[in-house]
Amino acid sequence: MAENETKHEEFTLQESRVFQPPAEFAAKAAISGMQAYEKLCAEAATDYEGFWARLARENIDWHKPFTSTLDESNAPFYKWFGDGQLNASYNCLDRNLANGNADKTAIIFEADDGTVVRASYRELYERVCKFANGLKSRGIKKGDRVIIYMSMSIEGVAAMQACARIGATHSVVFGGFSAKSLQERIIDAGAVAVITADEQLRGGKSLPLKAIVDEALALGGITTIRDVIVYKRTGGNIAFQEGRDTWLHELVDGQSAECEPEWVDAEHPLFILYTSGSTGTPKGVQHATGGFLLWAALTMKWTFDIKPSDVFWCTADIGWVTGHTYIAYGPLAVGATQIVFEGVPTYPHAGRFWETIAKHKVSIFYTAPTAIRSLIKASDVDEKVHPKNFDRSSLRLLGSVGEPINPEAWMWYYKNVGEERCPIVDTFWQTETGGHMITPLPGATPLVPGSCTLPLPGIMTAIVDESGADVPNGQGGILVVKRPWPSMIRTIWNNPDRFRTSYFPEELGGKYYLAGDGAIRNKDTGYFTITGRIDDVLNVSGHRMGTMEIESALVGHPMVAEAAVVGKPDETTGESICAFVVLKQARPSGEDAKKLAAELRTWVAKEIGPIAKPKEIRFGDNLPKTRSGKIMRRLLRVLAKGEAITQDVSTLENPAILDQLKESA
Ligand code: PRX
Repeated sequence: MAENETKHEEFTLQESRVFQPPAEFAAKAAISGMQAYEKLCAEAATDYEGFWARLARENIDWHKPFTSTLDESNAPFYKWFGDGQLNASYNCLDRNLANGNADKTAIIFEADDGTVVRASYRELYERVCKFANGLKSRGIKKGDRVIIYMSMSIEGVAAMQACARIGATHSVVFGGFSAKSLQERIIDAGAVAVITADEQLRGGKSLPLKAIVDEALALGGITTIRDVIVYKRTGGNIAFQEGRDTWLHELVDGQSAECEPEWVDAEHPLFILYTSGSTGTPKGVQHATGGFLLWAALTMKWTFDIKPSDVFWCTADIGWVTGHTYIAYGPLAVGATQIVFEGVPTYPHAGRFWETIAKHKVSIFYTAPTAIRSLIKASDVDEKVHPKNFDRSSLRLLGSVGEPINPEAWMWYYKNVGEERCPIVDTFWQTETGGHMITPLPGATPLVPGSCTLPLPGIMTAIVDESGADVPNGQGGILVVKRPWPSMIRTIWNNPDRFRTSYFPEELGGKYYLAGDGAIRNKDTGYFTITGRIDDVLNVSGHRMGTMEIESALVGHPMVAEAAVVGKPDETTGESICAFVVLKQARPSGEDAKKLAAELRTWVAKEIGPIAKPKEIRFGDNLPKTRSGKIMRRLLRVLAKGEAITQDVSTLENPAILDQLKESA
């Protein structure tokens, strides 16, 4: 367990500030007051399956109603609503046309340069249908996998919806991943097509997308791709391969604006999303259509208390799970109006978020602690970008996601953005959980800065020790979920064994879902505080990365013999990447070391993507190892923090090495 966890834990456990839900908010909330929350929890406890069946019937339009709710016969490969049939795109689009939302704005696209494009539910429906028909015209069909490597755009959302409409399983790859990462995902998914854009615009700069797709496809090993579909975003110069590449506008031109949805079984894989684990290559987290969609819709209502008049803004990218659940599906499934933002929080200035909130009268705002912390810093330096300079009167609810939010950042968000009148929902969840798991309900839960408070009704989270036994409140342990829930990961694509061993380990009895995070519950309130990952997964700016992936990228460099990567607490990004590197040649110093460190950073960016670049690189003749050759990461974490080593180093083979590793290149 990383040492920085203690700090957050201490902060939160000592936190005595409590913020009650504003009476006016609570009065109108979907779940109003703790009694309403407890009533739902009791309903789930009394009749678990009945509870989820009721919610699935109320929140989803089924083409064929389900009769079986939860099938545990092949645990942990659980099935939900197994004999039901539905279509996710139908639930997000068609039913909004049927229920009076046709002319309502579905998406307000805020471009990098501030240009605004709106699409009503009817327009989005037509775009998606044409897109879906275009995909079908290329022979793409139910069960095929389609990679989406796109910028934030209406087209990106439409691409996901179009896949869902025809029953193709999408796998969105974040636009910041390298050609090599993209290639690996294409191969693992066995995808038949890539949907991309010529370039993406971020912070006033155009960045290549299609060129990276070309590079990925040229890396070899890919035998399944037949089509590359290109959305023209910038009109920048790109290469075109006849027969393989098609412009999106040409593909959809002349297509019918109606496309009968492909009805799929509830367990049909809606998407695969790759994420990092502690070992090996990224895992393709597979989600099922019915359970995922239920979660997307339900948590929009429960956690975000969404109302017809709301303007919802989730600042995530569609390349991450947050952008799946709370951009591509959730808001549409409940007929909300949402912002899709192309740009970055600091362009053209660090008040862009607050300016955009005022411009579009955003009422629910959902972002990551890293963004908040960097905007706090920016407004300390330049008062003009402080939220107080922008009208935030439209806001009624704030949210946080992706990493622990420290109480200081929470308080700043609460006071300066939410004007002390907007509840904050600190939502804990993961790619694997499909949506929120532990979070306050804004009209019910008293808030404590730094705590994600209590699980959603029906979510059986618990804290256990290494043998799977419950630990008492006030004592830290391992976060598990004791019962399957509808939106849980179904398997790891191509790797069911890894699914079972990673998430349902025998040591915990084989039945509990292992989140991979440590947690502790408050003695008095039972509130949860997440203390961070217990495995070798890092969280840098809310981006999840495996230390092993970065290490294998580093040792792929011809000069590197060995590498160990650890996380180092960082005021802004939560954690930063610190790499300890042993070269095949003598250890460099001074300018040589700096030059080589820069080269290795560029190398990692090329291998994985810029988000994986180590912030610090330290060179040593060796790494601290036990006599049996095991790298002592615990010591590396202490060194990364710049702290003195107080631990016992008597088992160390080579204690002298520690001095070498104190300074970065
Ligand atoms: O460590 C937890 C942290 O992010 C991890 C999941 O990352 P990912 O699958 O990329 O999904 C991020 C978006 C949901 C978790 O294992 N995490 C996420 N939300 C929180 C959090 N840690 C503390 N508090 C949160 N609210």
